[in-house]
Amino acid sequence: MINNDILRQLMNKVDKSFYVYDEEEILKWINILQDKFKEFEILYSVKTNPNKNILDLMSKNNIGADVASPKEVQISNKANINKEKIIYSSPGKRRKDIEDSMDKCIITADSYNELGILNEIGKDRNIKLEVGLRINANYNVFGGKALSSKYGVDEESLLEHKTFIDNLDNIRIIGIHVHLQSQILDYEIIYNYYDYVLKLALYCKEKMNFNLKFINFGGGLGISYGDSYKNLDIDKLSIMSNDLITKYKEKLNTRFIIESGRFLVCKSGTYVTPIIDIKESRGRKYLIVQNGYNGFFKPTISELIVYYTKRKDNIKMMEPLFTSYDSYKISLIKKENEKEDEKEIVTIGGNLCAAVDILANDIVFPKAEINDLVSINNAGSYAYSLTPFLFSSHEKPVEIYFRSISDYLID
Ligand SMILES: Cc1ncc(COP(=O)(O)O)c(C=O)c1O
Repeated sequence: MINNDILRQLMNKVDKSFYVYDEEEILKWINILQDKFKEFEILYSVKTNPNKNILDLMSKNNIGADVASPKEVQISNKANINKEKIIYSSPGKRRKDIEDSMDKCIITADSYNELGILNEIGKDRNIKLEVGLRINANYNVFGGKALSSKYGVDEESLLEHKTFIDNLDNIRIIGIHVHLQSQILDYEIIYNYYDYVLKLALYCKEKMNFNLKFINFGGGLGISYGDSYKNLDIDKLSIMSNDLITKYKEKLNTRFIIESGRFLVCKSGTYVTPIIDIKESRGRKYLIVQNGYNGFFKPTISELIVYYTKRKDNIKMMEPLFTSYDSYKISLIKKENEKEDEKEIVTIGGNLCAAVDILANDIVFPKAEINDLVSINNAGSYAYSLTPFLFSSHEKPVEIYFRSISDYLID
């Protein structure tokens, strides 16, 4: 387990802001998913954190890749993930994106137009391409009317496009992909959603004549970010979902796939940045760290949302940019191992010439000194990959893949 002493040692080594990902922690979550979802294949959502050492670990543990760009196809390929286990699904693929990737993965079309492009490519190469189709299910996980979406094709539009699809002689639809919501913590909501997707798959088989080789249920497994969160009851979900699959297995005879990002890696990550300066302005104390929003973006988004809404709780999630105001904890690590009992109210900002470059406003914090470190937890997902590093051309954080203090890799 990574502790403050290890973080101090790593800072002494790299001497700049860093992310550290704890392999042991990732393995723990991989084992939970694989143990609990025996009837499913698991894909890692690479957008969550595309660190190559994490990809290698996923690959070694027989986890596939949910990818959203040609570059993500490439890095999954490099990690030796089997072509059949790399599924490329995103809106807005260009013909070039498809051509660069199609031999290295399964492509999931996101629109009827894209099905047409895939068919043209198949025709030009004189092949029949096997592809997936993302469907915007006629279902709302939270109840109520299904929502309009930029992803996939609406379920209700399938039948009226049957002739169009049947006439695409150079493709064959062999899979469906649905993803409606991330970060769900209620096992019944996830179970009911899986049940709906299975019924949709049957509809696709029976009414659309899709010969399905995979059903991709997408992501959604939520995690507890902090004290205000409950835990997803993974035991109940797994028992019910595995039973559900057993019921459909014969009728559908296909691969059942779930995607997961944050569940696998969020908890493994810590962001650490040194305090460079300390100052006061009109009664307010500022800790200036090396990388604020150009190190870890989500805290700054949180501060902006609170600024505009004047609220700190019960604010709607806007994944992946905003989960909740308390979705991470900001802590002080003293440069030496001394304990600090004195507390004060501080604002933590970064080194950018931008007033919004604030990680935390007016928080109660142990008394800090220059060269102490600020750490932020829950930094394994949607952290490094979401952060804009370019503004003011500052040095960006490094990423450390950690096995032990004598065995870690720096990128
Ligand atoms: C299609 C798809 N699948 C899976 C995920 C992963 O979500 P999570 O990190 O909540 O598991 C995402 C995240 O945006 C996604 O867009």
